[in-house]
Amino acid sequence: MELSLSKQEQRIVELAERTGTDVLAKHAAAADHGEFPARSIAELGPTGLLGVKIPTEFGGLAGSNVAAVHAIRALARNCPSTAVTVAVTNMVADMILRFGNAEQHARFLPKLCSGTWLAGSFALSEPAAGSDAASLRTRAEKVDGGYRLNGEKLWITSGDVAGVILVMAKTDPAAGARGISTFLVEPSMPGFSVGRHEEKMGLLGSSTVSLAFSDVFVPDANRLGAEGIGFEVAMVALDGGRCGIGAQAVGMGEAALNVIAQAVEARKKGDRTLGTDQGAQFRVADVATRLDAAWLLVLRAASLRDAGKKMTKEAAMAKVFATEAGNFAAQQAVALSQGAALDRHSPAARLLRDVRVSRIYEGTSEIQRLVIARHLAASVS
Ligand code: CAA
Repeated sequence: MELSLSKQEQRIVELAERTGTDVLAKHAAAADHGEFPARSIAELGPTGLLGVKIPTEFGGLAGSNVAAVHAIRALARNCPSTAVTVAVTNMVADMILRFGNAEQHARFLPKLCSGTWLAGSFALSEPAAGSDAASLRTRAEKVDGGYRLNGEKLWITSGDVAGVILVMAKTDPAAGARGISTFLVEPSMPGFSVGRHEEKMGLLGSSTVSLAFSDVFVPDANRLGAEGIGFEVAMVALDGGRCGIGAQAVGMGEAALNVIAQAVEARKKGDRTLGTDQGAQFRVADVATRLDAAWLLVLRAASLRDAGKKMTKEAAMAKVFATEAGNFAAQQAVALSQGAALDRHSPAARLLRDVRVSRIYEGTSEIQRLVIARHLAASVS
């Protein structure tokens, strides 16, 4: 694995780091009070960071997967709510690029990448189909000129603010995972509605909603890829998405490490700071080591994807390890901040609330372990 970055990747990393500190940081407190980060997205649009891997002709940066995870990590250090919103938009844009036709590229990518649309959204989960994604029940029935969609989706990031929503629905219910297709649903389509807004413990600036489809007519031109490949589209998306969530967790963990560094410097025992205490030093060392190891796993998975190699197992390893490392870092930040962390909007408390969901969305830690174990079993049989 090549650890050094190309000049273009380096430029993207610098751009993301600058945008994180100059733009996202100033709106992060508002996001933690529930404000959707529209102001940050307006400033992100012209940078190309909403479509890191998308060709420049559509408003993206034509970057690599490695550049994309660097970008999400840098944004997450400053505002995790914005980072996840941007990560999902990037994932949606990637899938349109990968599975869409030229007409769909021209119709959807420029608005996604420029920020004309606040976000892209990915609608797989349902009330009765979370971890077991293939058991989804949303139905897309073939009608003249298109499909009629009926069903419900749950826990959908940006579902209420997106200009386009990738919806996985059954076109052939008897065919299991092979009977699923993907549709590009636009919120203006009659019969589409947004339901409950989830009141989450963290990532309060990121919007999470349920969606309903009641006889929504989706034209043939809005089917993404062939009929029956929807589950593959979802899994390929999640292979990349899981690298992004791993990167987001590393970014949050690094922000927690920064909180820890400040806390141990600020606290004094007599004339010595807490940072000279061996117990505190061991904690700092463990946090930093786990985050570095996590980052290497994320980079490995992203590099394999750049090389066009299968990386499902590596993405699952990166996601499970990085999100647990990020959670560990935030727990240590709360422990070492002590009373200061009792304020729910303090940096340590916010990171602990924000990082928790990274172990749930885009496949829980349990699902990642299942994916890893299945791949290992397949490689020995
Ligand atoms: N790439 C390509 N194809 C894949 C694939 C991958 N990574 N994984 C599976 N497939 C294919 C298989 O090859 C198989 O194809 P064939 O039928 O042709 O053999 C087919 O898909 C079915 O595969 P499985 O038998 O492995 O499927 P399964 O039903 O056992 O499920 C699972 C596998 C990994 C558990 C899957 O259900 C899963 O990932 N569940 C978690 C769902 C999830 O992550 N949800 C997140 C929601 S999105 C989100 O959170 C975004 C957000 O808001 C931030």
